Amino acid sequence: MRYHLAPLYCRPWTLNGISPRLIESHYENNYGAVLNRLNTVSEEIEQLDLGKTSDQTLARLKRDEMAALNSTLLHELYFASMGGDGRVLPDDVASAIANDFGSVDRWRQEFVGIANGLAGGSGWVLLTYVPRDGRLINQIASEHDQGIAGSVPILALDMYEHAYHLEFGANASAYVAAFMRNIDWSAVKLRYEDAIKVAPPRGLEQKQFADVPSISVEEVSAMLKSGTPVQIIDTRPKHYSSKAQDIMEGAVWRDPERLDDWIGTLSKTEPVVTFCVYGFHIGCETASALRKAGFDARYMSGGHFAWKAIKGPVRLFE
Ligand SMILES: [Fe+2]
Repeated sequence: MRYHLAPLYCRPWTLNGISPRLIESHYENNYGAVLNRLNTVSEEIEQLDLGKTSDQTLARLKRDEMAALNSTLLHELYFASMGGDGRVLPDDVASAIANDFGSVDRWRQEFVGIANGLAGGSGWVLLTYVPRDGRLINQIASEHDQGIAGSVPILALDMYEHAYHLEFGANASAYVAAFMRNIDWSAVKLRYEDAIKVAPPRGLEQKQFADVPSISVEEVSAMLKSGTPVQIIDTRPKHYSSKAQDIMEGAVWRDPERLDDWIGTLSKTEPVVTFCVYGFHIGCETASALRKAGFDARYMSGGHFAWKAIKGPVRLFE
């Protein structure tokens, strides 16, 4: 595959305190070089005789390819991050940032602090959208191949020395300040709008029990902490429970196959939470059966192991 050069997005002569000379050198000598390296490596991979190539060689080339590709993409984002006046944030971007960082000022402090912390070293500072959580986060990418999986960077600051040394020498903080004065927030806004269209990772599908309401382990934990009355039933199958060593604190074990024997002990005025080992079949089935009998029942998603994963208290199961 041949990767094509992207034109320089920002207009270097309009930048405030960052000279055309610096941008030209960066674009030509660093961005250009990495794009060429990317094409060389990907061509090399395409031409490999895989039957005769060692796995180590292939892995090394793939690592080189990924670093070069990521450096290419981040440089394009970096050049596209400047060209504005850095001050005025469009309302929706300002409110998204305030929502995720407390305030725009706090975001700025964190972003600049991270960048200054990288001075003398190298890396990227990125403002990144994480579709899983629907939120923005500032991140460091120390190497070109470090990114938050599945995330979408929308603003990039290059802290490799080549990005500033020519003009700023060791005065990295002056370079960071100049970058901040040139952020093109209207372009960030467009990238943010594109980023939030990315769907979060698909959640667990419980097709068979789609109509049975669930409750998260965090919600159950909050109920217990606040003293909300709730009847928690561990319905791990008998063959499993006979080997189990622990049980969720606050839960009682009941054999899911003998529902009729114990359903009469439950109160209809208090909510019921059922769970099994991982939160699939049995817990859902029991919650469904209890709902049909008129109980306010939900299954705890993720089951026993989700409870343990949030370090929920357990006791010895005898
Ligand atoms: Fe760079």
